[in-house]
Amino acid sequence: MGGFVLAEEHIILQNVHKEFQRKDHAPTIALDDVTLSIKKGEFVSLLGPSGCGKSTLLNIVAGLEKETSGSLLVNNKPIKGPGNDRIVVFQESGLFPWMSVLDNVMYGLLIKKVPKQEAKERALDWLQKVHLGKFAHALPHELSGGMKQRVAIARALVTDPEILLMDEPFAALDEQTRMVLHMELDKLWRETGKTIIFVTHNIREAVVLSDRIVLMKTRPGGIKNIFPVQAARPRTSSDSILVHLENRILTELEQEMEKVLKEELGSDYALKTDDLRVDPNNNMGSDI
Ligand SMILES: Nc1ncnc2c1ncn2[C@@H]1O[C@H](COP(=O)(O)OP(=O)(O)O)[C@@H](O)[C@H]1O
Ligand SMILES: [Mg+2]
Repeated sequence: MGGFVLAEEHIILQNVHKEFQRKDHAPTIALDDVTLSIKKGEFVSLLGPSGCGKSTLLNIVAGLEKETSGSLLVNNKPIKGPGNDRIVVFQESGLFPWMSVLDNVMYGLLIKKVPKQEAKERALDWLQKVHLGKFAHALPHELSGGMKQRVAIARALVTDPEILLMDEPFAALDEQTRMVLHMELDKLWRETGKTIIFVTHNIREAVVLSDRIVLMKTRPGGIKNIFPVQAARPRTSSDSILVHLENRILTELEQEMEKVLKEELGSDYALKTDDLRVDPNNNMGSDI
């Protein structure tokens, strides 16, 4: 891939504002004046505490929500709704429980009228890539949580979307499984060159995976800061660049978390964040 291709803007959000109306209350401002450009093939994380508008932003890019004002362009065209170029992977795999793993992965291709034999070959190929070739004929309930999320990733990528949107896809998994899936997602991303937007509230996860981290804030929801991550890949979370960045992000968050907690718990609340400092021997990462 030539450098000029990588430099193309893939997704452009300009002054995006999103309000949710509430009965007998002032509307919730989920996103206030969000401007962000994402390049083709870039891996961008949206990081921030619950309620800061991460899912709303992802859903707007997916075409599942409509912005109240502002504009959203993909490949320089306005977005009118969901499209084949964008696929979302959620925290829950959303697999059809009565269908085999293979049928689940083939489903989206058959809907698009891909011939059955070709759909089967492509689905099996993707199941191999996520190391589940042997489980093609299993039912979802026979799989662990991590395996289900692998199927969900295969099911998304088999249709060859340009953009993969992931909303806390690994949040329900144990830490060991999560670390394995980080390495696998990193590899798949580098092999396929997809543009990925990855929502998380785990700082470690964001620094290990991303080219750039968009740190978000609450009330109103929006962008607080953007951090480029300049560590070589594949990465290990003990990389000193990543540990340093993780602490920098945590420092920015302290102010934000204190503000939110004071609003919720009263003005005498003083946040003690020393306990949150990153110890490289602790591989749990910092959930926020
Ligand atoms: N469909 C909805 N109707 C009303 N309010 C919503 C809706 N979706 C999200 N919100 C509100 O918008 C804000 C941002 O929510 P969300 O994007 O889900 O945050 P996050 O994913 O960062 O936790 C929250 O205050 C939430 O309550
Ligand atoms: Mg969310």
